[in-house]
Amino acid sequence: MRATLAAVLGIDVSLLQSGMGGVAGPELACAVSNAGAAGCAGGYKLVGGPLSAMLDRLTAGTDRPVGVNLIPEVVGPVELGQQVAQVLDETPPQVYLSLFGMPGDAVFDRIAAAGRRLVVQVGTVEDGVRVADRGAVVVAQGIEAGGHLLGTSTRDELVGALRERLPEACLVAAGGIGAPAAAGRALAAGADGVLLGSAFVVAHESRAHPYFKQAVTAADAADTVITDVYAIGWPNRRHRVLATAATRDPMQVTKFIGKTVVEGKSYLVPRFSAAVPTDVTSGRIEEMAMYCGQDCGAISSELSAADVVAEFARVLPGVAVAEIGKG
Ligand SMILES: Cc1cc2nc3c(=O)[nH]c(=O)nc-3n(C[C@H](O)[C@H](O)[C@H](O)COP(=O)(O)O)c2cc1C
Repeated sequence: MRATLAAVLGIDVSLLQSGMGGVAGPELACAVSNAGAAGCAGGYKLVGGPLSAMLDRLTAGTDRPVGVNLIPEVVGPVELGQQVAQVLDETPPQVYLSLFGMPGDAVFDRIAAAGRRLVVQVGTVEDGVRVADRGAVVVAQGIEAGGHLLGTSTRDELVGALRERLPEACLVAAGGIGAPAAAGRALAAGADGVLLGSAFVVAHESRAHPYFKQAVTAADAADTVITDVYAIGWPNRRHRVLATAATRDPMQVTKFIGKTVVEGKSYLVPRFSAAVPTDVTSGRIEEMAMYCGQDCGAISSELSAADVVAEFARVLPGVAVAEIGKG
């Protein structure tokens, strides 16, 4: 019998909230952690003073395990090293690190040496095995996922293949889990817990623009597409988004279509930017990158983060030793 995700992370419910850049600030992360799951704030491109300001708010908002998400391929090895060092130096031990995609060995070593918990999202069996070998929690992302896609398998195919190779590993399923029914299917495929992105986009504490939240609650699977058009700021990685005028006509001129603010600094938003519209973005929101998973038909109303956690807690394991994946 293996430990549940809840036991590994020191939380009550085997549920991870994705550290979505722009959407998942300290407010959402702390609300999720205070409700008994593992919240996570998106670090994205923050470094130096802006990252410190975010970390201060995160650690002021909860004493429970909470994460900081970083994306190795977006920032590159040098800046990732700076971000990791800052998180390790400026946060207490209950703050875990969450990575989207594989880092280099030095990052694994550094996080292990600091005794911090690490969660890494992958899209292939090969990467999942490498992550498990380094003692980290493996998040298996299927192509049903909202956001950038790390592989080409469906969620439960990848979960099943990883479980076969890694009978003892802590394995989390991600992609297309909008309601407890899909979480139940992922557990049956061999997962110890789940990671949710889109279901938390619509949470009251999420910083997604109101138009984006409303669009997710109104959408179903047929309204999502896999595309590569939102490449400015994060090139060369396919992503699942709500279909927009930009996905329908990728040959349009790249010009500024809006404005936004990140940690107090103003930016213009070009058409085809990878940045999501947040509550401080203005302009043509309806043309921007609204990442959304395939199970959005099951996400029908805006709820508090605590209500989302409570809804999924009914089907997810707690800290008791897992019987899941047996029989
Ligand atoms: C709006 C949005 C933004 C995302 N941004 C990030 C991110 O910054 N870092 C990350 O690790 N994953 C990010 N993801 C991907 C999630 O980690 C996860 O793979 C996905 O949300 C799971 O599918 P679901 O949306 O169907 O739950 C994002 C997903 C969404 C929907």
